Amino acid sequence: MNDTTTNTLITELNAALAWELRAQIMYSHYSAYVKGIHRLHLKPFFEEEANESVVHGKTVREQIVKLGGMAITDRDATEIVQTTDYKVMLREAYATETRAAATYQQILALPGIDPELSDTIEQISFQEERSVEELSQLLDS
Ligand SMILES: [Fe+2]
Repeated sequence: MNDTTTNTLITELNAALAWELRAQIMYSHYSAYVKGIHRLHLKPFFEEEANESVVHGKTVREQIVKLGGMAITDRDATEIVQTTDYKVMLREAYATETRAAATYQQILALPGIDPELSDTIEQISFQEERSVEELSQLLDS
């Protein structure tokens, strides 16, 4: 990989990392604030999504280090909507997962990405797409 390719990859991976850091906070926040009967299902669901974001963030961070880059430590600045309404939470989660899936697709489309990195990102991308699908079903009521 040449320097331009590597720098572009690092920039894009950092954007994905920032988004995972935001997702961790959003899901942990929603797992604490979800109210009513839906708390029974959605608290563990949000906790699981928070954990998945931690794992994705860890994987992306390690790839940035491997490329010799500097991993960011700040979350993406996109607002985390404060609410106790589970439907709003699910809509925000859907938007977050859709954006995450698009971010990983963008990385996979970069020219010069090596097969190992591509494989790692693809695994994450599949999980994001599963979350998008799951959330779209949760919203379909
Ligand atoms: Fe993720």
